Amino acid sequence: MRRESYNRAALRVAQELAAPEARIDIAEIGAIPLYDDDLREVEWPEPAALLCKQIAEADAVLIVSPEYNYSVPGVLKNAIDWVSRWPDQPFAGKPVGIIGASPGRLGTARMQYHLRQCFVFLDAAVLNRPEVMIAGAANLFQDGKLTDETTKGMIEKMVQALVAAARKQGEAS
Ligand SMILES: Cc1cc2nc3c(=O)[nH]c(=O)nc-3n(C[C@H](O)[C@H](O)[C@H](O)COP(=O)(O)O)c2cc1C
Repeated sequence: MRRESYNRAALRVAQELAAPEARIDIAEIGAIPLYDDDLREVEWPEPAALLCKQIAEADAVLIVSPEYNYSVPGVLKNAIDWVSRWPDQPFAGKPVGIIGASPGRLGTARMQYHLRQCFVFLDAAVLNRPEVMIAGAANLFQDGKLTDETTKGMIEKMVQALVAAARKQGEAS
């Protein structure tokens, strides 16, 4: 959500690298209200319903997230909690890739393993590899742009793996 977010900058690189083979649309999650089961029973908030439909229609999902307090940021967890209540579970069997960038030394490793745990329940097909943990982000991004070629290569590998997983699943179904 941060204007100069390292993670959003990494996502933009993934978008560029995916084209023209694949298109990555950004699903915004900042306007989704805090999960409330009473609210869900009355009427699904529009931004939450939109996210569920976007995931359902996508061939694969790429999550690019910071790590907050050694775990998944509340904004992302809240979005996942909403999606988990959608009647026809959109994450079930869906290829999911995870990327995270942090100025710290572990590059969101702790967040990524907590995120994987959520997807066990949701039965998503989270890619085990590649693991894209972008550490020391302050030295790799400048003016909101990723400048480090090695990191671009890591993101490219993720995009390729996700496209391959989506293709494989498309052929199987
Ligand atoms: C509430 C909060 C908690 C954070 N906790 C962690 C953390 O556990 N591990 C970490 O590496 N960085 C942590 N950070 C620093 C973030 O990695 C840093 O702010 C990063 O730039 C956020 O990602 P963004 O650039 O995409 O906004 C935290 C930052 C905030 C605001």
